[in-house]
Amino acid sequence: MMKKLSKIGAFLLVSAMILSTAGCAQSGTTSAATGSETASKAASTSVDKIKADGYVTMSTNAEFEPFEYKDGDNIVGIDIDISNKIAEKLGVKLKINDVAFDTLTTELGSGKTNFVAAGMTANEDRKKNVDFSDTYFDASQAIIVLKGSAIKSRTDLNGKKVGVQQGTTGDTYCTNEDGKNDIKVASTERYAKGVDAVTDLINGKIDAVVIDDFPAKKFVEKNSDKLVKLDEALTTEQYAIAVPKGDAAMLETVNGVLSELKSSGELDKIIDKYKEALGA
Ligand code: ARG
Repeated sequence: MMKKLSKIGAFLLVSAMILSTAGCAQSGTTSAATGSETASKAASTSVDKIKADGYVTMSTNAEFEPFEYKDGDNIVGIDIDISNKIAEKLGVKLKINDVAFDTLTTELGSGKTNFVAAGMTANEDRKKNVDFSDTYFDASQAIIVLKGSAIKSRTDLNGKKVGVQQGTTGDTYCTNEDGKNDIKVASTERYAKGVDAVTDLINGKIDAVVIDDFPAKKFVEKNSDKLVKLDEALTTEQYAIAVPKGDAAMLETVNGVLSELKSSGELDKIIDKYKEALGA
């Protein structure tokens, strides 16, 4: 018994020594280790892995026509067309994760996805957690109300009950946490989907919906007997594609594709295609 124990003890001691030696070796040869680490990193970027896997993963929230929405079983839209060009450039298949909008930046942080294309506004707050590509669309936060509503301009939102999609820039604007905006709504009602906010507006449960201009147009068009979009907007914003923070290879790929799409006129064509579908 004693013998056995001491054998185990000896084994543990030896293991501990190996571990600590390994630890010493690592810290003792810092420069060499860093050198080879850099070399192996350069040899295996996110893009190398994507090519080896044969697919690239994009995350979005497909509740945002015409940028991403469901058409039967398919997810389609401007961002999907752009994402397909990115996959094409990489020579791989596109895999789409459809998740809640307010979880998208976390998805990037946890390595679940290679990029986010979701009509996402590039702003300073998000830049703390993700890297943004060059911008590809100018947007604004628009106001939708019922026809004949007393709300005729942005300042009429003061004291009103306003619906937004949770976690969006419209949510941030109406919530006005830092008190920077001149508009003080009575309450911000947060919905998982923009369409649910619009339904509540039609049913008289809220006074207005604040959502991005292009999707707002789409909602109004589908309910043109009941809804109007005000001419005045609340913000000016720009959409960009988000990649994991520090993922230079992915960022370079996305920016390369965007710049090609812009200079060839293809991006305008893609956007126009969805304008036509809207009849806008
Ligand atoms: N542009 C807004 C934002 O970045 C709304 C985007 C909503 N996108 C979506 N796919 N649901 O916060």
